[in-house]
Parts: sequence; structure tokens; C-alpha cells
Amino acid sequence: MLVQFGHSRIELAQGDITSQQVDAIVNAANSRLAGGGGVDGAIHRAAGPTLMDETRTKYPEGCSTGSAVATSAGRLRAKFVFHAVGPIWRGGVAGEAELLSSAYRRCLELAVENACPSIAFPAISTGVYGYPMDLAAERSLSAVRAFLLEHQQPELVRFVLFDGGSFGAFARALEAMAE
Ligand code: APR
Repeated sequence: MLVQFGHSRIELAQGDITSQQVDAIVNAANSRLAGGGGVDGAIHRAAGPTLMDETRTKYPEGCSTGSAVATSAGRLRAKFVFHAVGPIWRGGVAGEAELLSSAYRRCLELAVENACPSIAFPAISTGVYGYPMDLAAERSLSAVRAFLLEHQQPELVRFVLFDGGSFGAFARALEAMAE
């Protein structure tokens, strides 16, 4: 599924984010940048140990929630990995929505700063961090759409959804947004 917003487009795909051929792949990291399971584990396994070495050296303080930092991408077919830290879901009363938006925005800023025309995102915070999928889909897509309409770049933003349930949630939210 693909929707055009100004000069840019949002695309939805189902699969594994580590096999994407884009300029930047976004990792769903934790604030210590300590590695983990889910997307984080898959990205570090596919990229190889240089990714953790570089992350530790460049960002010993980690990264705050709602932000993101950039490294190179090791063996992945991308130039960069942007390590984004989404919020842990606490019932929706702890500023989760704004923190989720700002994690996406920061990644898109990093894409522009690093001259990346294409970027792939996982559904940040919807796994271990427990953000409800429908709410995350709506919030994530509207944060990206707002950025694209304002900045007209990057050219391509692809959400890579791991299973049918998350793909369906994002497809419904994107359809509603395109109406
Ligand atoms: N490709 C795409 N999506 C994936 C993949 C993959 N290879 N593996 C898992 N997912 C999906 C999950 O199904 C979920 O919908 O990515 C979404 C995000 O899940 P998590 O990876 O658990 O990320 P998050 O909820 O943001 O939690 C971050 O988990 O792994 C730790 O170190 C990480 O502590 C951090 C926390």
C-alpha cells in the first residue's frame, strides 16, 4: 500500500526490516542502547558486532526516550541505522503519544541531515513496550505525514510491519488518513 503526501510517499510492507534496501533502517531501541530482543535483536544480529561497538563508543550516555541517534549499518543493506527510543506504554497518561511522535520526527530529521532519500521504520513501541497497535498506527503515521508535508523529504518512508495484525492496523489508519 502506498500513499503520496506532497513530494514524498508512505509505503506499507509486511516482513522483516533487516532485509530492506533503503538508506536508513530504524531500530526500536532502549534508552541505554543496550540491545535487546524484537527488532533490536534482529538488527544487531544482521548488522554484526560492529554496530554495538560503534553505538557504545559514540553514545556512552545512551539516548533519551522520544529521540534517536545515528550509526553506520554494519552488514545491513543500508547506509545508516537510526536507533530510536519509543515510550513504554503506561496507559496513555504519561505523554506516550507525544514521545512516540517525537521519536519518529527525530529519525526523519536524521534522514534529512544525512541526505537519506529513503527510510524504513518498524512499529516503534508496539512490541515489548506495549503500545496498543491501533493507537500506535494512527500516531506514527500522522507524525510522519506532518513531517513530510512540512519538509517534502525524505522521498520514501516505508513502514515494515512484522505480521498481518500490525499490517492491517497500519493499513486501516493510512486509508483513513488518505481519504
Ligand atoms: N522486522 C520488523 N518488525 C519486527 C521485527 C523485525 N525483524 N521483529 C519484531 N518486529 C515488530 C514487533 O512485532 C513489534 O510490532 O516490531 C514492533 C516493535 O517491537 P519491539 O522490537 O519489541 O520494540 P519496542 O516495543 O519498541 O520495545 C523496545 O525491546 O528489544 C527491546 O531493546 C529493545 O528494550 C527495547 C524494547
